[in-house]
Amino acid sequence: MAKIYLEHLHKRYGRSLALEDLTAEIQDRELIVFLGPSGCGKTTTLNCIAGIEQPTSGSIYFDNEDVTDWPPHKRNIAMVFQSALLYPHLTARDNIKMSLRIARMSKEEMEKRVKEVAELLEIHELLDKLPFHMSGGQRQRVATAKAIVRNPSVFLMDEPLASLDAAMREALRAEIVVLQKKLGITMVFVTHDQIEAMTMGDRVAVMQAGRLEQVGTADAIYNSPVNTFVAGFVGSPPMNFFEGTIKQHDNGYIFEHPKFYIELPGTIIQHCQESMEAKNITLGVRPQHISLLETPRPGAIKGQVYAVERLGKETVIIIEYESETKFKAIVPPFSKQNGGETVYLLPQAENVYLFDSKTRKNLLSGKST
Ligand SMILES: Nc1ncnc2c1ncn2[C@@H]1O[C@H](COP(=O)(O)OP(=O)(O)OP(=O)(O)O)[C@@H](O)[C@H]1O
Ligand SMILES: [Mg+2]
Repeated sequence: MAKIYLEHLHKRYGRSLALEDLTAEIQDRELIVFLGPSGCGKTTTLNCIAGIEQPTSGSIYFDNEDVTDWPPHKRNIAMVFQSALLYPHLTARDNIKMSLRIARMSKEEMEKRVKEVAELLEIHELLDKLPFHMSGGQRQRVATAKAIVRNPSVFLMDEPLASLDAAMREALRAEIVVLQKKLGITMVFVTHDQIEAMTMGDRVAVMQAGRLEQVGTADAIYNSPVNTFVAGFVGSPPMNFFEGTIKQHDNGYIFEHPKFYIELPGTIIQHCQESMEAKNITLGVRPQHISLLETPRPGAIKGQVYAVERLGKETVIIIEYESETKFKAIVPPFSKQNGGETVYLLPQAENVYLFDSKTRKNLLSGKST
């Protein structure tokens, strides 16, 4: 049982601020994923939870108990890192036992626990092997076994799959989720890989430059990003952004960009939290929500096909529409473009996002489609 509360954490290394006022509540038995680019403070957050690092200010609570000053061994946590930390001269069995030796267990009890954990992670055939004779994925399984064999109440994983190939990553990420649910353990998982974060997390915490930008389910993060950072970081290919303004037009509104305009549905304007006129607006649109037009239309974006990426189930075209300004659109897999063609495109008005260009905040509240 462990609920974790991080309260106004700051972490300073000399002049640089690795964590800035980070507050987050992690529920008991939850799998929360901290997601963000390199250097945003993910490992620092994990190390503070583990007690390996002390926050410069702020507090950490486990089940309402202030553990900020507790040493790591008192916190009953287990940690798995990017490279599996195994003793190279010990077999998998002895590596796993090392975690139990500290607890002064009987030999029989130790054997029983190793057997249980080997069953759970399906590593029977690895127990008598040395780490040197295992694949990266196998080493990571043994490291996981070594970490959970002590029945920790919190399990911290720092990019444990980053060094594995794509197929192994995909297989192991599902297994980690199943394991976490089976053990009913609180898990904090760190990654810079959005697919990993979205597929694994009960909730995803998106970080940037030491700050927590948004915490929510994968659906909420994807469909209702709070700002341009979250909107652009989650989704592949990423959301496209266009700078412009909102103008009144006939009975409605249009988004006007120097090269195109689109009529905005009344529902979008109703969702708007504040007046958008006289503001610089960043329009966000995901590549799958840009239509390729058969014929030119007033207001459409005229561009050149710069490159074509055929992915089988869909085709991504990269459009150059001003010198050196590009965006991506997803078109049907059988589309004929090869590069160099002039095309006309239009963002689908019902699927656009509107952000304040200055604050970068999402101006549409409650947009969940
Ligand atoms: N021991 C340290 N001394 C000085 N600066 C540090 C130290 N550890 C981390 N930092 C700085 O703190 C910031 C956050 O680092 P952190 O390791 O938490 O990032 P991260 O999100 O885990 O990145 P990555 O995805 O590359 O692992 C970075 O700017 C980093 O340079
Ligand atoms: Mg890190």
